[in-house]
Amino acid sequence: MNILFATPECTPYVKTGGLGDVSAALPATLAALGHDVRVLMPAYRGVRVSGEIGDGVELPAWGPWPAAQLVPVKVDSGVTLLLLACPALYQRHGGPYVDASGNDYHDNDMRFGLLSRVAAQLGTAHSPLHGWAADVVHANDWPCGLAPVYLAQARALAPHEPTAVSVMTVHNLAFRGLFPMGSADLLGIPLHWRGLDGVEFWGQLSMLKAGLQFADAITTVSPTYAREIQTEAQGVGLDGLLRARSGRLHGIMNGIDTQAWDPAHDPLLPHRFSRDNLQGKRLCKAALQARCGLPTDPKAMLFAAVSRLTEQKGIDLVLGALPGLLAQGAQLVVLGQGDPTLAQGLRDAAERHPLQVAVTLGFDEGLAHLIEAGADAFLMPSRFEPCGLNQMYSQAYGTPPVVAPAGGLLDSVIDSDADPDHGTGFIMAACDAEGLQEALLRAVRAWNERKRWRRIQANGMARAFGWNESAQRYIEVYRAAIDAASVNGTLPP
Ligand code: ADP
Ligand code: GLC
Repeated sequence: MNILFATPECTPYVKTGGLGDVSAALPATLAALGHDVRVLMPAYRGVRVSGEIGDGVELPAWGPWPAAQLVPVKVDSGVTLLLLACPALYQRHGGPYVDASGNDYHDNDMRFGLLSRVAAQLGTAHSPLHGWAADVVHANDWPCGLAPVYLAQARALAPHEPTAVSVMTVHNLAFRGLFPMGSADLLGIPLHWRGLDGVEFWGQLSMLKAGLQFADAITTVSPTYAREIQTEAQGVGLDGLLRARSGRLHGIMNGIDTQAWDPAHDPLLPHRFSRDNLQGKRLCKAALQARCGLPTDPKAMLFAAVSRLTEQKGIDLVLGALPGLLAQGAQLVVLGQGDPTLAQGLRDAAERHPLQVAVTLGFDEGLAHLIEAGADAFLMPSRFEPCGLNQMYSQAYGTPPVVAPAGGLLDSVIDSDADPDHGTGFIMAACDAEGLQEALLRAVRAWNERKRWRRIQANGMARAFGWNESAQRYIEVYRAAIDAASVNGTLPP
């Protein structure tokens, strides 16, 4: 099968969160299963690739967009990376979505409209890659949300030409990709698709809603989140649409890249370890404490978090629980970036308690690995969590997670008090200060019973969080969408 995986971020080129990791590992697994997978991503400023770079394909100026180029790169994983080069739109200081001051780029409609446009075109008979067109266009999150719309448009205009099916994956429903409806003119959205049954969301254009409305299939990144987003409480206004399309909505758990996140072979760690020999983990703890300027005390229980600093991740709850942790003699290490108020709160805590709290503001892949390895327990009190990868990394690294009862956290962590034989972590009874406090105390208690802790660690380290099973499920979704489309007569037999 020819699969075009469209994404705004991909590890190791550009990453702001879990979507970056998924965009590397899922396509690589699909390729290993024998499919021809191409990953389309903007060529942002500073993206460096290693691999065989092919000849760029010119994309002439079209509609509101200037001329661009598609640069194919054969990367090690067996996937072809297609870099969408359009310097006027992508060569910017700042991140993929926001400028250096943290504000959305004013022309994100154009920037991600082009990404979606090109993704769709790669799934038509007019694919700019001569001799290659996608059977499936897999669009990820709001920045790719218009791809299903453009594909539907292509299908409507040329019903007898082969056109790819579209699959829309929701990694985070909270980001709806909202723009003034005026953008619809610019982006060439047909008038009759601008209403409630189309791309309109309370008077605005929602790129995510557009994708959900027009995709042949919808997936999200855990079974529990698939249920949660169909409720009014967690559907952020899109639950009605998701309920209406529930027959085409699938919750497929993310996996983790078990090569990049393997404590026995992780090149980013100063010491390696495995389930059978945790000596290296003890050394990683000392290295982490030293690097963060904390006393290298093996007897201080070390809690950690690596997180985008947003309301979603419940870092304010961690700050609220801090007095309790400090009273237990525990240490806390946080790595994160984002919301300035949360960052300030963390900085203040570290200044007030320099022997127990250490905070690193910024994005640091190496430190993230060291934290997973060196911490005793990992904190993820997320208010909602579509899937979450860190709780899986931490289980693989013998660092039992303390998590909120939400989304993919519920699908990937087993509470060790509820199930002492198989438990891998601690699930809060509720996502509030009290819930976190109670779960932290349970974690401290378990840590003090060495044998019990060792068992919780071993249970987590034995779990198989790889991508194989989930990648197979994506293939099933792709196949079902292709079959349904051909029955409906939208694809040639
Ligand atoms: P989300 O995608 O919502 O941010 P996930 O748990 O799915 O949450 O994925 C987050 C990913 O981003 C993990 O790989 C985590 O290690 C990484 N990450 C988040 N913040 C940082 C940071 N400040 N430095 C390094 N890695 C980070
Ligand atoms: C989003 C979600 C996170 C998920 C990631 C990858 O950023 O917040 O829960 O793991 O996408 O799917």
